[in-house]
Amino acid sequence: MTILQRTFPINADTNIPAVGFGTFLVSPNDAPDAVRAAITVGYRHVDTAAVYQNEEAVGAGIRAGLESTGLSRQDMFVTAKLWPGDPEHTAAQCNASLARLGLRYVDLYLIHSPQGGRERLAQWRALLELKRAGKARAVGVSNFRQKHLEEIKAAGLPMPEANQVELHPWSQKPDLVAYMRANGIAPIAYSSLAPLSTWRSKPGQSSAKTAEMKRDDGVFATMAQKYRVTEAQLLLRWGIQNGYAVLPKSLNPERMRQNIDLDGFSIEDQDMELISTMDRGDGIAWSSGDPSLVD
Ligand SMILES: NC(=O)c1ccc[n+]([C@@H]2O[C@H](COP(=O)([O-])OP(=O)(O)OC[C@H]3O[C@@H](n4cnc5c(N)ncnc54)[C@H](OP(=O)(O)O)[C@@H]3O)[C@@H](O)[C@H]2O)c1
Repeated sequence: MTILQRTFPINADTNIPAVGFGTFLVSPNDAPDAVRAAITVGYRHVDTAAVYQNEEAVGAGIRAGLESTGLSRQDMFVTAKLWPGDPEHTAAQCNASLARLGLRYVDLYLIHSPQGGRERLAQWRALLELKRAGKARAVGVSNFRQKHLEEIKAAGLPMPEANQVELHPWSQKPDLVAYMRANGIAPIAYSSLAPLSTWRSKPGQSSAKTAEMKRDDGVFATMAQKYRVTEAQLLLRWGIQNGYAVLPKSLNPERMRQNIDLDGFSIEDQDMELISTMDRGDGIAWSSGDPSLVD
């Protein structure tokens, strides 16, 4: 089975493609063409969020992609995310996202962040209701830590079906992933390419790489050379070999293709073991160090 055919189960009748197309920092101007191009080259999962402010353009790209490939809606997997707010408005927020996307349902709907505080459980109940109403085939969370997941368990509610978190060799979150596995919560990896030296290096795209991380850069380059692939391909393959769906974003057509071209090699056990020693903590893409996310 090729990487493009490969999926991971999220619930009894929902499987998420191993590689999806990320749309964070994809502007409404760029999104229609980028998403159409991604679907044309083989991506079958598109990840967006209300807070990315590109849902209408992503929806247009999905329609254009389906038209140019002859695929139908059921062939695609679409993830959308609720920005936490008043739980009373959750259904309205979901309906607004669906309207902007031009879809009747999404395949996965996530609470984008645990920062809802005391409202978290009410938000989660609202997502369960949206699933019952057929607005989402699966529901989950994003950026939740173990204590946020335990809160749901302690309330006796069904657990999230997925948790989308920053996962790459510098942020491996072994305890969180083990807890998720033990509780049937599928891990979805974002910012898989964070270890690239070029990652978010444009003006205004801040990241928080430590000196230790910068010293590690060469390890991935050397390993990638060994497998005759790019560092990006190595990092994406690492995620998939760990069982994580990945969501690379690229506006560059060549990289867009490269990021799904992951079949010709597999990372040997000894290299997976070496990478497992390179965990450098909470991550650098978004959630680390933000006090509102750890309450
Ligand atoms: N739930 C959350 O809180 C959360 C947070 C962050 C991200 N996400 C999701 O995960 C997706 C991916 O994360 P991300 O966008 O942070 O980062 P990413 O996909 O790991 O990296 C994207 C960056 O890498 C570059 N790139 C892509 N392919 C490359 C390649 N083959 N070689 C070299 N550079 C390459 C891109 O530039 P070019 O476009 O110029 O190629 C872009 O600067 C997001 O788009 C979003 O959908 C979710």
